Amino acid sequence: MNTTTLQQARSPSYWRFGLWALLISSLAIAACGDSANKTDSKILIKFPHVTAPGTPKGKAANRFRDLVHERLGDRVTVEVYPSGQLMNDDDSIDALAFGEVQMIAVSLSKFDRLTKKFQVFDLPFMFRDLTAVERFQKSPAGTVLLDAMTDNGLQGIAFWHNGMKHFSGPEPMTTPEAADGLKFRIMESDVLQAQILQVGGNPQKMAFGEVYQALQTGAVDAQENTWSNIYSSKFYEVQDHITQSNHGYVGYLVIVNSEFWSSLPSDIRTELRAIMDETSDWANERAAAINLEALEKVEASGRTNVVTLTPEQVELWRIAMQPVWAQFEDNIGSDIVAAAQAASQQ
Ligand code: LMR
Repeated sequence: MNTTTLQQARSPSYWRFGLWALLISSLAIAACGDSANKTDSKILIKFPHVTAPGTPKGKAANRFRDLVHERLGDRVTVEVYPSGQLMNDDDSIDALAFGEVQMIAVSLSKFDRLTKKFQVFDLPFMFRDLTAVERFQKSPAGTVLLDAMTDNGLQGIAFWHNGMKHFSGPEPMTTPEAADGLKFRIMESDVLQAQILQVGGNPQKMAFGEVYQALQTGAVDAQENTWSNIYSSKFYEVQDHITQSNHGYVGYLVIVNSEFWSSLPSDIRTELRAIMDETSDWANERAAAINLEALEKVEASGRTNVVTLTPEQVELWRIAMQPVWAQFEDNIGSDIVAAAQAASQQ
């Protein structure tokens, strides 16, 4: 497994931990590979993620676990750890590379240190809705993105949707000027950082599990997320206004450790892939409805004011954030940007 890029991207303090992790994980990988190759011992897939069980990702992970139990229960066990109870997203990428966990589903925004290709998903107003995202992900240009991190020993096996993002903050964000001077929590993404800077905001990269408290204490003023995350993580209880802006996308890459995956007996790997494909279709069909239901619950709570941008207001935001595209197009690859745009406009 090649973890060079991963290790180079880490801070010096990481090295101290890294040496221990490397030692422990080498043993873990050896153990994994060994057990994975023995058809008579049970294979364990630890699958941590950061959202609540009722979110699109939470439901998809549980569905995958249940189908595996139903069809391969005597040979494979999937253990799902939701709500960041095992680790945050950043740590889970390292844990996967080191073989401490076997499957993760991390937001496409959080892979900047490994590949720039997924930055296409963060370009503001790239996709109108989940149908447009899906067209791109299923196109030849989208499908090859599953292999974007094979040099790092990580293999993408599916894309899962969450939903479209909306802004929340101390005031309705009907025009880009409303963002001026506000501290925004963002995911660990350089595109999202540039997007907030573009409208005069102050972006703060922060792990998902820290957002509620940061909003509650005023460490940050505002954030962007999907309805299912805003509802399940209770952000609506600590934000006075939520503006339905649809300005970006949150979705996930489901990834496995390539070495672990190729060490599986081939009949099991084939069945796991089939179950993953079935799970992904099931989950992606339901993601929009789960977010709509979350929006309705937030509105019914009466705890926050929900406003929806008019088409004219959307256009103001789109124009204000458009320069971000030119900043990242070369990094991403203009062919990928063009393919996403073509899929989006169909
Ligand atoms: C976030 O950090 O806001 C999201 O990536 C959380 C998630 O996994 O949906």
